[in-house]
Amino acid sequence: MTTRTRILTGITTTGTPHLGNYAGAIRPAILASRDSNADSFYFLADYHALIKCDDPLRIQRSRLEIAATWLAGGLDVDRVTFYRQSDIPEIPELTWLLTCVAAKGLLNRAHAYKASVDKNVETGEDPDAGITMGLYSYPVLMAADILMFNAHKVPVGRDQIQHVEMARDIGQRFNHLFGQGKEFFTMPEALIEESVATLPGLDGRKMSKSYDNTIPLFSSAKEMKDAISRIVTDSRAPGEAKDPDNSHLFTLFQAFATPAQADEFRSELLQGLGWGEAKNRLFQLLDNELGESRERYIKLLERPADLEDILRAGAKKARSVATPFLHELREAVGLRSFVNQAQTTTTTKKKAAKAPRFVSFREDDGSFRFRLLAADGEQLLLSRNFPDGKTAGAVSKQLQAGKDLDLRSEDLSFSVWVEGECVADSPAFADSAARDAAIEALRVALSPSQD
Ligand code: TRP
Repeated sequence: MTTRTRILTGITTTGTPHLGNYAGAIRPAILASRDSNADSFYFLADYHALIKCDDPLRIQRSRLEIAATWLAGGLDVDRVTFYRQSDIPEIPELTWLLTCVAAKGLLNRAHAYKASVDKNVETGEDPDAGITMGLYSYPVLMAADILMFNAHKVPVGRDQIQHVEMARDIGQRFNHLFGQGKEFFTMPEALIEESVATLPGLDGRKMSKSYDNTIPLFSSAKEMKDAISRIVTDSRAPGEAKDPDNSHLFTLFQAFATPAQADEFRSELLQGLGWGEAKNRLFQLLDNELGESRERYIKLLERPADLEDILRAGAKKARSVATPFLHELREAVGLRSFVNQAQTTTTTKKKAAKAPRFVSFREDDGSFRFRLLAADGEQLLLSRNFPDGKTAGAVSKQLQAGKDLDLRSEDLSFSVWVEGECVADSPAFADSAARDAAIEALRVALSPSQD
């Protein structure tokens, strides 16, 4: 069932993606998401963007452009869960639960916060001048992003490793305080892609918006051409041999070329290809590689309503994981319904755990199904139809094995999935709270670790 590796990463939505972002993060993430062992969660970290930016138009524009970039780059939203952080209310809610267990001393050590304090001290300001609680709590919000979906691997740049470690720390603390032997949160690991290119910018330093040396990704062919014409080269004239290994123009070419194309370009440079012509080659290569995606990008930006739909569908998918999980976490810290209290005390949990019953039966059309009944006889699940009793039996066994249950809520009911297939449905509930309580009851009923 959930044996796939959960890969999760967020993209802070300030700014427009450039070629360096594409080669360093977007392209590798899209490729990684095609691995059949990967269960990828990619999201627009727009709550994080608010920490750095108080310009609403820029926030809005950037979310739109980044969403369009990932989709135009070939992200398959049927395979991955692609959403906006701000569409998942469970994330700020989890942030608070985690804030209440995060040590202040831990957050004092966060690099981003410390750098701001150091700068203030250096300039003789009050240490906390201009520092918001948002900046200070940034790592807790990021921990919530990661822990909410129990990510195993978190691809990030080196500057973010500390944040992933803090997520582990905070998650562990929560597990320890409230888990009663159960590990609510998986311990995430930062994934640093050593092989991924850090692209040089126009001036040869790392391509970065803060150096103003970027090549735009999907803006227009003309803008890309203009940027390429500004790539700094040495002063060797046409006809003179160039040194590819000391040319960032060559490095840029190589990041998008096949090995054969790169070899050819290398020998042309050695044979004295002029820089002007070399820039044309780079433009041609990039235009071939990215031209189609650029078309898609422009089309997507023209249809913001479609983008909205795609992201809402992504949020729905993400929340089918987040909602029941947060419910469990709320219960764990004691935020429980007064009404259902009896059902959530430890003693009833034990009873329920002993008594779930699977009852199988045969339909008139010859197919086989089963019901899962709670201790009090209430129906928790009705399975889909299976062609024979053996298949139905195997599925009910699998559910009883109690591995991580893949439960997805849909309006006022929920369904159970095994290996990508819906195998059973719950009845419809009066409201979402009743549905969530039933999900919790089912988890308890099927949990193997009751003692
Ligand atoms: N802080 C990350 C960055 O600036 C973005 C981010 C937010 C993120 N939440 C995350 C990355 C969760 C990985 C996982 O790059």
